Amino acid sequence: MIAFENISKKFGNTTVLDEICLQIPKNKITFIIGRSGEGKSVTIKHIIGLLRPDSGRIIVDDEEITTFNTARMRQHRKKFGMLFQHSALFDSMSVLDNVIFPLREHTSLSRQAMRAKAEESLARVGLGDVLQRYPSELSTGEQKRTGLARALVNDPHVLLYDEPTTGMDPLIAEMIDNLIVKINTELPEVTSVVISHDIKATLATADQIIMIYKGKAVLEGDPATFRNTRDPVVGQFMAGRVEGPMQFI
Ligand SMILES: Nc1ncnc2c1ncn2[C@@H]1O[C@H](COP(=O)(O)OP(=O)(O)O)[C@@H](O)[C@H]1O
Ligand SMILES: [Mg+2]
Repeated sequence: MIAFENISKKFGNTTVLDEICLQIPKNKITFIIGRSGEGKSVTIKHIIGLLRPDSGRIIVDDEEITTFNTARMRQHRKKFGMLFQHSALFDSMSVLDNVIFPLREHTSLSRQAMRAKAEESLARVGLGDVLQRYPSELSTGEQKRTGLARALVNDPHVLLYDEPTTGMDPLIAEMIDNLIVKINTELPEVTSVVISHDIKATLATADQIIMIYKGKAVLEGDPATFRNTRDPVVGQFMAGRVEGPMQFI
């Protein structure tokens, strides 16, 4: 569904993506893993057109998005729902208004219809009873779920999660991972892309895994492929070993 063909991206003299090729299958949960600073966030920013590559082609739903102009790219971005590491909620808005916000931006639904959609989205993440609360009155897990409800409210084709569980306590992290699976199961038309460096959760949750290293996709495959790999770099990363060809910087 999403394909990178020889995508390169430099910032100044630093090459982040080096003719990378990768494929993200439709309706599945794909995890993108790799060391910090390896280009995972840069990769998903290319998918939604927040960054443009120096060279190469990106295909989404059979369209080459790399040639889109700004207006077309704005349109393209509506296909996506995004959950960031920090939930990025508006502190001065209630939970309900936070979730309604994208509908106000992108649709002309009535207030009543927006509210119904937001409530449906909040129910899906298990937050039926905190609609009138403010983000500061929520637990970390509830904030995360509010962010997820907001990402879902526009019926996205693709859900992008950038390190949704980094810095969370293990129980909340597991709850979020379970929600990713629940949503992908309940909404079978949705494609999920998750950036993570939690290897255990990746192996337990992913249908497909892509590891980025030195600007390339060093390995793409299902969890079994990753468990059985003989690639020394991938093996080292999976085992979390300090010794090996890969330097932890
Ligand atoms: N807008 C930018 N301008 C300059 N450098 C950037 C920009 N965005 C990312 N980088 C650099 O690109 C590299 C990869 O970043 P990133 O994709 O955020 O890593 P991660 O894999 O941890 O998500 C880092 O060295 C980062 O400093
Ligand atoms: Mg990142």
